[in-house]
Amino acid sequence: MGYYGRQVLPRVINRMCGLSALNPLRTRVCAGLAGSVIEVGFGSGLNIPFYPADVTQVAAVEPSDVGWKLASARVASSPVPVTRSGLDGQSLPFTDDSYDAALSTWTLCTVPDAAVALAELRRVLKPGGKLHFLEHGLAPDERVRRWQRRFDPLQQRVAGGCHFTRPIVDLLTQAGFTISELDVFYEPGPKFAGADSLGVAISP
Ligand SMILES: C[S@@+](CC[C@H](N)C(=O)[O-])C[C@H]1O[C@@H](n2cnc3c(N)ncnc32)[C@H](O)[C@@H]1O
Repeated sequence: MGYYGRQVLPRVINRMCGLSALNPLRTRVCAGLAGSVIEVGFGSGLNIPFYPADVTQVAAVEPSDVGWKLASARVASSPVPVTRSGLDGQSLPFTDDSYDAALSTWTLCTVPDAAVALAELRRVLKPGGKLHFLEHGLAPDERVRRWQRRFDPLQQRVAGGCHFTRPIVDLLTQAGFTISELDVFYEPGPKFAGADSLGVAISP
């Protein structure tokens, strides 16, 4: 990864993903998290203020050193202990059935192989453990999908491998999760970039 990916992009993501307009979505996706939580694609820790009081510890999985550094003030002031515990969602250094819950926000778009990352989350979640997800992906409307396919190659280049066209709900169900809550909607702004799925998926 070059200078842009290492140094610039994590700062851009911190700004863009830190917009206060996204706070209501973070509140919704974090609601109901409890116990030991693994957060994949932790970024700069923008979900920390939204962890419910029932969360006892968070294992942060994040490859970007700059992202982790940008998170430092939030981590230091977090009422919940947050530890950087892994670098790649596709290979989690945890034993099977070790977490009560998982959190992923706008991350499955970027992990190189989302199916592998979801298989890993399934492995480390306890049976019945809940994955809270908020992801952008393939739009429900064909007209929007056409724009997503057009812009996808550019997006992958400028946004660190981020895809517009991943079918989030299909990926979750193919990984063996059962969706128990789901809201599919467009964020304000260009629809091709903000076709979101927010919900909870249960590990078998
Ligand atoms: C768009 S950002 C979202 C950050 C954060 N989840 C948020 O909501 O602000 C995507 C994040 O996924 C991380 N990421 C990329 N590849 C990853 C991988 N293989 N495993 C875990 N995280 C990864 C990126 O470094 C980045 O922090």
